Amino acid sequence: MGSLSTVPNQVSNALRTLAGVAAYMKDGRTPNFAYQSMLQLFCATGGVSNDAMSSFIGLMNRPYQFQDACGALGDFSEADIESIGSDIEDKGYHVFKQRLPDGLCDELLQYATTMPCVRRGTDGEGKTDTRLERFPREKPDGVRYDFSEEELINHPLIQKLMADRSFIAIAQRYLRAQPIIDVVAMWWNVVSARPDKGAAQFWHFDMDRIKWLKFFVYLTDVQPENGPHSFVSGSHRNGGISSDLLQKGYSRLSDEEVSSHYSPDKFIEFSAPRGTVIAEDTRGLHKGKHLTKGDRLIFQMQFSNSLFGGDYPKSTIRNAQSPQLAEMMTGYPRLYSHYT
Ligand SMILES: [Fe+2]
Repeated sequence: MGSLSTVPNQVSNALRTLAGVAAYMKDGRTPNFAYQSMLQLFCATGGVSNDAMSSFIGLMNRPYQFQDACGALGDFSEADIESIGSDIEDKGYHVFKQRLPDGLCDELLQYATTMPCVRRGTDGEGKTDTRLERFPREKPDGVRYDFSEEELINHPLIQKLMADRSFIAIAQRYLRAQPIIDVVAMWWNVVSARPDKGAAQFWHFDMDRIKWLKFFVYLTDVQPENGPHSFVSGSHRNGGISSDLLQKGYSRLSDEEVSSHYSPDKFIEFSAPRGTVIAEDTRGLHKGKHLTKGDRLIFQMQFSNSLFGGDYPKSTIRNAQSPQLAEMMTGYPRLYSHYT
């Protein structure tokens, strides 16, 4: 980043971000210059700029009142939600005691072995994606295979998860604002000769939004050799990523670059059985460890406090097949405002 870290540059970035916020409030789109300025401010302030914007968003979009916080993660009391929210604030992640039921994992696994997917081009291939009729589980030759968000959000079981108040209440507590679901994803990772940058197998922080919480759901058992999701505990906090690393900007980092900045006990590898759910603020440093054996199927849902940030195509909920989703879309429209 070099000279970009000077005070006049950051004043300029702050003004450009504010101009972008005004444009976003008018037509719901973030100008790219404003998104880039937000990123540079994050790197310069270590996260203070994002928190300041989040405080404002929380005031403008006060949390919803739900009749309960009951769902696939448990039947949470207010004290449970507070405790889990504090845990995420402290460490940057929380692993839920309750796992998703086997039946749900089986159905999503069935989907992931029979439905079309996209083989993501590897680093060495120039990132050319290829559409496939189904995931070649017996003989994969890529590193990551993604399912279409548009298809996922029209699947009744996934719609039920999108309407699940145990997920939503935790996200809302962490964001301290009405949440918006803005990523629903599912993908396979498979064995590869080396870690792949495009498949997020190098350390990095995410910065598509101002504040967000991701839920990762393992749909296959994940052992140390099957690519456990990995996180640097505490690195999501303001100043949690050292300025040396932030000076490299929004980039992928090697194990060597990161290991010298944190004690070994901060590196968390989530080896866990299928059905395990991890909530994580991926503003902290994270990666998917590269696989040396087998494969890994993962489902992900992200909740953000605003859609300000990266400009991503919107998918369409063609039909709310799940009655739970139909009810939640009527009662809490901001939650689903990313989808048309
Ligand atoms: Fe990431």
